[in-house]
Amino acid sequence: MSKKPLILGIESSCDETAASLVTENEQGTPVVLSNIISSQVDIHKEFGGVVPELAARSHIEKIDWIVKKAIDDSRCKIEEIDAIASTAGPGLIVCLSVGLSFGKALALSLNKPFIAINHLEGHALSPRLNSNLDYPYLVLLISGGHSQFLSVQGLGKYKRLGTTIDDALGEAFDKTAKLLGVEFPGGPQIEILAKKGDPNKYDLPKPIFNKGGCNLSFAGLKTSILKITKNIKTDQEKFDLAASFQKTVEDILYKKTKIAFNEFEKENKIKEKKFVVAGGVAANKNIRSMLENLCIEKNYHSIFPPINLCGDNAAMIALVGLEKFKIKQFDNLDHPPKPRWPLDENAAFLKGAGVKL
Ligand code: KG4
Ligand code: ZN
Repeated sequence: MSKKPLILGIESSCDETAASLVTENEQGTPVVLSNIISSQVDIHKEFGGVVPELAARSHIEKIDWIVKKAIDDSRCKIEEIDAIASTAGPGLIVCLSVGLSFGKALALSLNKPFIAINHLEGHALSPRLNSNLDYPYLVLLISGGHSQFLSVQGLGKYKRLGTTIDDALGEAFDKTAKLLGVEFPGGPQIEILAKKGDPNKYDLPKPIFNKGGCNLSFAGLKTSILKITKNIKTDQEKFDLAASFQKTVEDILYKKTKIAFNEFEKENKIKEKKFVVAGGVAANKNIRSMLENLCIEKNYHSIFPPINLCGDNAAMIALVGLEKFKIKQFDNLDHPPKPRWPLDENAAFLKGAGVKL
């Protein structure tokens, strides 16, 4: 029995410091041996969002023991590691630099290959962890930093079908929560407040609802909520606004996912259609059940990986490292951190004023 590759993954692109060891079993299924994630929510709470310098400082303080704990928890020895994979982008440059430099230094000291990983590639492949999910599949990634539909055809073969042209969905949830006076990150609280409200009370805008394919836009929604909150006086009005926001987001995702399904089917002529929802917002129960119902309606197999594997984590980084290790795709130690690093290099840059859809 030949030794299976053992990969250490390191993630520090935003406000989670994470390390993980991943290998594969005899059937070639990627297996997570340890998955350590340290969130910095408490550090950034009082500022209502992630402060890059504070995040980087915390990564520097924690990365050493987090990597050590990931190795200890895996019950492997550091000498058994075959390669080190660190997130190199996209993300906050001061944060990326911590995990990237740590990974390079460790690779150099252990005399093992170093692999620079695209964080989005990690999210795209994450549903393959601990599962035998085959390519191709469609991913909706909805997190605090990203909102994209990706057709995943194989390692290195991604087609971005749609993306947000402004805010990420998690960001829209957090900003709405902040306007309603809920502490950062307030996304999960919106879902709770929404249960007590009338979803039809406020008619909120649905930007680019009838154009732009499956591209998304949430900034106009936030502006409208800002205006409404100025006149809100009672708790009930707050609940109604949270419910209206939640319903508007569901309407947008329902319509845009249907479009993404059509585009995915044009790209991939397959019988077994698979749809993965990843990222922190996938924890939203209403969004989840709405998308599950849509999958039943459209004959898709729906996959919601556990949140510790589809929110920000290092197991997904180690997984991409594992797949690249097997084809000997290594990187040099001068690999730079890349704050912007699109997964699909052919996809147009769709952010900012003047975007034409
Ligand atoms: O993928 P993730 O864990 O990490 C980053 O993006 O860094 O996603 C976090 C995002 C936050 O914006 C958070 O408010 C949102 O996911 N989120 C939710 C829910 N749980 C987490 N948004 C809506 N409803 C939820 N239940
Ligand atoms: Zn992420």
